[in-house]
Amino acid sequence: MKSRAHIESHPIHPMLVSLPIGLWTASLAYDLAASATGNDRLRESADDMMRAGLAGALAAAVPGAVDYFAVIPPNSSAKSRGATHGILNVSLAALYGVNCVLRAKSPRRWGRWLGLPLSVIGFGGMMYSSWLGGTLVYRNQIGVDHRGPNATKWRESGMLMGEPGEWIDVAGMEEFEKSGQMKLVHLNGHRIVIARDGENIVAFQDHCTHRGGPLADGVLACNVVTCPWHGSQFNVETGAVVSGPAEERIRIFPARVEQERIRIAAPEPNEEATVSERSGFLPPEPKRQQIERMAQRTMEKVASLTKAAAGDGKA
Ligand code: FES
Repeated sequence: MKSRAHIESHPIHPMLVSLPIGLWTASLAYDLAASATGNDRLRESADDMMRAGLAGALAAAVPGAVDYFAVIPPNSSAKSRGATHGILNVSLAALYGVNCVLRAKSPRRWGRWLGLPLSVIGFGGMMYSSWLGGTLVYRNQIGVDHRGPNATKWRESGMLMGEPGEWIDVAGMEEFEKSGQMKLVHLNGHRIVIARDGENIVAFQDHCTHRGGPLADGVLACNVVTCPWHGSQFNVETGAVVSGPAEERIRIFPARVEQERIRIAAPEPNEEATVSERSGFLPPEPKRQQIERMAQRTMEKVASLTKAAAGDGKA
């Protein structure tokens, strides 16, 4: 699923985590070298790298939290993995913070005898946390902006509300130019996938009944959607399981097209609305469109200024 905290589709969190991983690893290596040689300059360098790594970890936490709340599907195996990863990272930042304070306050006493064991514990925790982060990306595809058949791309609505049974306008047909295109819609606290399957428009739940994988990020072809996590397949007209490991069918929602606009019947409100909806990471649809237009205009302005500057340079 595409990261929310990204630069031109490149997620920011993985860029920044290289700072604490690299600096804290180097800090431990310098600490070991200092212990072996008794060289205090090496120990001071280890302290500097530890402080810089802590700053990098705090910076990486911000986009990481955005992706945790706004991208990882709720009630899924990735959500619990992401929670463990986040809690562990916060604990590691606290551990390295204590380590920095001990080293600064009493470099000869506590810094020397307690600093190194704390760094070793921190390094072990960091490796485990990196493994969890790797699983979130390489298996759960969190932050991966991949393309489906016909190079269809990721689309997502803001928050939409409506009375149960009311036909809500959720998308325009121009967003579904190719068969297989899907869009994740947030309606009354439900995550619903709108998709074009051949000439039909269908709507079904996003939550894979196996371990909560996001079907909107899967592949849709010939009436069947395939979950991106472990490959379960569901018929998008009946909701029936075509292929496991999932055993339970998915819910189908009534959808219709009126004057090139797609409408779905609003379901009853979901009392367990996702954290991203409650936390404000998911803005209401009109606000989201406004933000998108503003971002688009800014990008166009930057592109025209860059072009003008390049023209001046040539002249
Ligand atoms: S989450 Fe396992 S197949 Fe969908």
